[in-house]
Amino acid sequence: MSIAVLEGVKKKSQFYNDVIEGLQKSQKTIPSKYFYDKWGSELFEKICELDEYYLTRTELSIMKQNIDEIARKLGSDIQLVELGSGSSLKTRMLLNNLPNIHSYVPVDISDDFLADVADELQAEYPELNIIPVAADYTRPFELPVKESQTRRIAYYPGSTIGNFTKEEAGRFIALIADLIEDEGGLLIGFDLLKDEETLIAAYDDKQGVTAEFNKNILRRINNELEADFDLDAFEHKAVFNEEKSRIEMHLVSITDQTVEILNSAIHFEKGETIHTENSHKYSLASFRKLTKGHFHPVKTWMDKDEMFAVQFLEK
Ligand code: TRP
Repeated sequence: MSIAVLEGVKKKSQFYNDVIEGLQKSQKTIPSKYFYDKWGSELFEKICELDEYYLTRTELSIMKQNIDEIARKLGSDIQLVELGSGSSLKTRMLLNNLPNIHSYVPVDISDDFLADVADELQAEYPELNIIPVAADYTRPFELPVKESQTRRIAYYPGSTIGNFTKEEAGRFIALIADLIEDEGGLLIGFDLLKDEETLIAAYDDKQGVTAEFNKNILRRINNELEADFDLDAFEHKAVFNEEKSRIEMHLVSITDQTVEILNSAIHFEKGETIHTENSHKYSLASFRKLTKGHFHPVKTWMDKDEMFAVQFLEK
């Protein structure tokens, strides 16, 4: 077998193991990283354009309105490290406005997307030193070397921090603090706690795009792991967990049913759910708690309705 084929087999068996392990728990779950195959990524882009999904456009407008000040805070000799480099619009805004940028390091777990993004950006910014790094950024990984006077700035937009549990998010913040070294900084976007109705609508839109996105994880298991999920026998549900200050995404089984995945059979009771994702909502105070001991906030920018926050922090 060639190395490429072997890698493919390894990835597939990892996917299979993760799915079976998750579906054998008492609260069934599937790791949310499996949302993002090609179709899943396209659906997510559609979510970002929905009327109800205020997050993307609000973050973008905060960035636009404050870009000069953001650029000043970040400094002039920078290595920009973007974690999970999906959000090219926001990245371009930074690249267009950061003088003397030394290098741009997009870090992503999916190496195919990463190469495409890097090629595209390199054509647009021929002077820029682009160094893509394929890595799972939730674990320690190596970054390209930099000059000692160059400042390393981690960039983590999109409220992706909200998809971690509080404990995971705390560990992740500590990991970033190590990564950027003493003179570095962190520019991060996070969604703010607000009324339940607005939150639920953002994760359960009228057109059903989010429902399709959520169900796509089952479609993917059918396609890649020879499973027989009936997509019509599951329903998308978004609930607000007030105690944990998070939106939870579930897939509800609408009947008693048994699903086969390769040679495993998984039973679902009517009404039983697969928990597929969390999206934590922060206040400025609860976010401060999360970053305390590792960072101090330098400046926070918000929209006028205080729906979303972009914050710059230093060690
Ligand atoms: N980071 C996004 C968020 O928490 C991810 C997301 C948006 C998402 N809509 C979703 C994840 C629906 C799963 C299902 O807002």
